[in-house]
Amino acid sequence: MRKIIVDTDPGQDDALALMTAFGAKEQLVVLGITCVAGNVPLDLTSVNALKICELSGVFDVPVFLGSATPLERKLVTAEHVHGKTGLDGTELRVRNKEVELTSAMDFIIECAEKYRDEKITICALGPLTNIAKVLTKNPGVTGAIDEIVLMGGGFFEGGNITPAAEFNIYVDPEAAKIVLDSGVKITMLPLDVTHKTLVQRDFLEKLRKSGKNSAREAAKLLDFFERYDVEKYGSQGGPLHDPNVIVYLLNPAIYKGKLVNVEIEINSELTRGMTVVDWWRVTNRKPNAYYINDVKDDKFFEIVLNKVLSLEI
Ligand code: BDR
Ligand code: CA
Repeated sequence: MRKIIVDTDPGQDDALALMTAFGAKEQLVVLGITCVAGNVPLDLTSVNALKICELSGVFDVPVFLGSATPLERKLVTAEHVHGKTGLDGTELRVRNKEVELTSAMDFIIECAEKYRDEKITICALGPLTNIAKVLTKNPGVTGAIDEIVLMGGGFFEGGNITPAAEFNIYVDPEAAKIVLDSGVKITMLPLDVTHKTLVQRDFLEKLRKSGKNSAREAAKLLDFFERYDVEKYGSQGGPLHDPNVIVYLLNPAIYKGKLVNVEIEINSELTRGMTVVDWWRVTNRKPNAYYINDVKDDKFFEIVLNKVLSLEI
């Protein structure tokens, strides 16, 4: 059993990642959900996290408010991909759940202290602002973190918000630099791998026909999410980015990568947020991340489907 905190900015693909984690009760304990501004502002990402908990029938996982803005920059959002609410495609409501009073940063620090011996894993699905604040405010916390597994970056595939940068890293490059320089074990799931997990028709059909409300709503979210990538890139389906973080924890054997050095560009306006990956080890820079670039996509979809369908409602 691995104890995880999901740091997130839901987002339809974040929603599927949360549902996959909730469905993996025999392998993962979700200690809490810490929200950050990203795809949409913080007031919406936090409501979206509550909506996904309720949709999944999960009432015992607390949701926390984190950072409303990046460390040094103005917030850039992605309504053009996720819609005005961040979860366009459905009409979900929050009835019984509220955000906690503790801040996301304090919650992560509390958990790190409480579980210092067993250690916690942080699953980062959005800009890295909350996590960078934790590492800066409390450097001793690094010893209590088993691993940070994050969706972010892109090298062979280039960027998706600028030609050079992937959205999560672009929004808060200073935070990403702090995280990559922290010395904590880091696994990165960049666009190079998430662009290989394109939503498949039969996957959507199985969700729709399952008879479960949560799965049907998940399919509606993905229908909306897909239209952007299908129109823009002409791909067969939208890339299911964030669930890769959870599936990696559940079955790392279906992924391939390399321990390499990754640096973040923070100075150039042209390439702000670019992840400079020393894939061929042409520098002496110290490896600081396990950088994933391949996955068995059929296995990936099998796991997501299996976990989402195991939700009770
Ligand atoms: C990442 O950016 C967001 O739009 C998605 O939720 C994902 O975390 C992909 O670049
Ligand atoms: Ca996200």
